[in-house]
Amino acid sequence: MTKRRRTRILLGVTGSIAAYKAAEIARYFMKRGCVVRTVISESAEKFISSLTFESLTGQPVLRSFWEETKPGAIGHIALADWADGVVVAPASADCIAKAAHGFADSPLLAILLATRAPIVFAPAMNVNMFEHPQTQENIDTLRARGVTFVDPGSGSLACGWKGRGRLADASEVYSVTMRALGPHDLIGKRVLISTGPTREAIDPVRFISNRSSGKMGVALAREAYRRGATVTLVHGPLSPSPRLPTTIHRVSITSATELREEMLRRVEDSPDIVIMAAAVADYRPAQAASEKIKKSAARRAIELEANPDILVEIGERKGGSPKPFLVGFAVETGTPEELVEEVRRKLSRKNADLMVGNLAQDSFDKDTNRVCLVPRRGDTISTDTARKSAVARKIFDLIGDLTK
Ligand code: C5P
Repeated sequence: MTKRRRTRILLGVTGSIAAYKAAEIARYFMKRGCVVRTVISESAEKFISSLTFESLTGQPVLRSFWEETKPGAIGHIALADWADGVVVAPASADCIAKAAHGFADSPLLAILLATRAPIVFAPAMNVNMFEHPQTQENIDTLRARGVTFVDPGSGSLACGWKGRGRLADASEVYSVTMRALGPHDLIGKRVLISTGPTREAIDPVRFISNRSSGKMGVALAREAYRRGATVTLVHGPLSPSPRLPTTIHRVSITSATELREEMLRRVEDSPDIVIMAAAVADYRPAQAASEKIKKSAARRAIELEANPDILVEIGERKGGSPKPFLVGFAVETGTPEELVEEVRRKLSRKNADLMVGNLAQDSFDKDTNRVCLVPRRGDTISTDTARKSAVARKIFDLIGDLTK
């Protein structure tokens, strides 16, 4: 997979008690491969030192217009042009008001006017300041101009009040920013994804399951969200529970029967893309005991019955229609050649538009994967081992090509 240029994020930090959290946000973006530069307001410096950001990011921090001639400093227009995205976190009421009215009396405000890059504001302030009609009007003004807002959370605020106004956490700021940066090819599309294992109860304390971690489906949900889709993720037990953008609709299920019910109900709403990445248990105990089975016999047989094949059922409902674009997964053991053969068989049996094949040893419980992509029309593509986020990107690139 081709190496991409690192995304350049300009982080604007303004005067709020939450300014200390901006350090964590800078780290979060950097850990995910972004280059971060910081511009800090005078009042933010009362809460956190520019040295913190200089040390964390390894880049000089822009503090005032009058320092720009210093060696190593970079001018505000150069920074505005450099950025792929400008993230203001925390964004104070004052900064939002001034930005809405086009003020340019600080480097950050000037950058907000000068940049052509997407702008994201993550407000943090007292609940009454946030809910004040003037602040809300300022937010609406900026929104109408294409600025994206990361909704603040609710809870206890540093000022002693309870309510909306807490700076969103770093993962939310990151996800919303990446969505604002694009590629936007799934805007207006609804994507339904299943992931994770199912658990089939033997009795109240035991179950049959498999080694699926659900990470591939989670990566697909994040990628669909990044591209602008409205995403529903129906998932079996995931441990640890992943942090997902708050607007991804999560539905938690346990058994294949529950998964079937949730998926078929949602397929009725005609989503654009359906991806069955869940590792559905093929069999369930014919009878789940209502009490714990006692350890008495030396041997015990559990009678199993087959679970319904949900992908087949969705494929039948789809029939010859192009919608939903239906994607299935297949996990196998064996050689890569055997995998492709098996995946081809499943593609036609399940009436999918695309099947993604992976070997258990390459995928289960790993952050990386190696897959073969077998479309109904077109050539099979085999990928190298890459992070599941990169594999998810590749899968949506292909879906984009196949649905053109
Ligand atoms: O036949 P196999 O289990 O290998 O097929 C895998 C694909 O079928 C996956 O997309 C999986 O989510 C789906 N599946 C299903 N219902 C089952 C078993 C598998 O939807 N009972």
